[in-house]
Amino acid sequence: MKVLVTDPIADAGIERLREAGHDVETAYEVEGDALHEAVSDASALVVRSGTQVDRDLFEAAPELVIVGRAGIGVDNIDIDAATDHGVIVANAPDGNVRAAAEHTVAMTFAIARSIPQAHARLKAGEWAKGEYLGTEVNNKTLGIVGLGRVGQEVAKRLGNLGMDLVAFDPYIGEERAEQLGAELADLDEVLERADFLTVHTPLTPETEGLIGEEELAQLEGGYLINCARGGVVDEPALAAAVEDGVLAGAALDVFAEEPLPDDSPLLDVEDVVVTPHLGASTEAAQENVATSIADQILAAFAEEPVVNA
Ligand code: NAD
Ligand code: MLT
Repeated sequence: MKVLVTDPIADAGIERLREAGHDVETAYEVEGDALHEAVSDASALVVRSGTQVDRDLFEAAPELVIVGRAGIGVDNIDIDAATDHGVIVANAPDGNVRAAAEHTVAMTFAIARSIPQAHARLKAGEWAKGEYLGTEVNNKTLGIVGLGRVGQEVAKRLGNLGMDLVAFDPYIGEERAEQLGAELADLDEVLERADFLTVHTPLTPETEGLIGEEELAQLEGGYLINCARGGVVDEPALAAAVEDGVLAGAALDVFAEEPLPDDSPLLDVEDVVVTPHLGASTEAAQENVATSIADQILAAFAEEPVVNA
């Protein structure tokens, strides 16, 4: 069967599908008619966050049995359209959790200690030692919005570094939070208490714009980290809040529009640190998600249960 891969995944996943006798084709950075042509005879499609799998794509793909997301977020896939076309949507929810949590910790330190800013100055020949006075995370409060897989791994790591943990997640039980040493509270309280706020929700109609101007004002003097999904945080409001000194800084791996447009106001603010959606970009994570999604495609082709559908 033909498997079309439209965002780069680790070779191990591609090899697993080829070894099982399938014809794997790659078509990266292809859009519109060319994408529709490429998918027209595909039985499976593998994507990460780059490909928008919309209703038109499903209509152009009559043979499609399964869309595999080599990663967690399925916000780039029109699930209703998949259901209407009888196509399975599967993701790989476990393989990149630790990578995303580690990146969140890295971004927390990057902004707390101005590491990217100081690095850029030194590379430019300036020894700006006197200009950077950082913030320790020890004894500070970490507010976690979304205490799921990644949020929990972040809680463990930053809790072990001496942070007090307070979390907002309406779908998580007290007991699980307690096991992690986190206190559950409503969003207002989390915002009021947090010195650092880290976001780990999916992007849904409920979470879109969850952290806007008002919420950023409640976090006054704090730092915001978003390694989950752009769109959960209002970007123009965030850029203004950091620029105006309402927040001490922000670190972002994800954006409402990706790639981040050159004219984004976030790029002009010194204390906003950005990375280009690198949370899952480790060798281990990429191998995990690629092989996991390959296994699920093989299960779908064999008409066996698909675990993360
Ligand atoms: P998850 O489903 O395990 O956890 C999400 C948590 O958010 C759940 O506990 C859920 O109850 C909670 N939640 C849902 N709606 C909420 C709301 N309105 N308010 C508060 N909490 C809410 O997902 P995960 O695996 O932890 O992934 C978290 C996010 O990180 C996703 O958006 C995922 O796509 C993203 N992610 C990004 C990268 C990256 O490369 N930057 C890598 C991995 C995951
Ligand atoms: C995810 O949701 O898994 C992340 O966006 C990681 C990615 O695929 O880049």
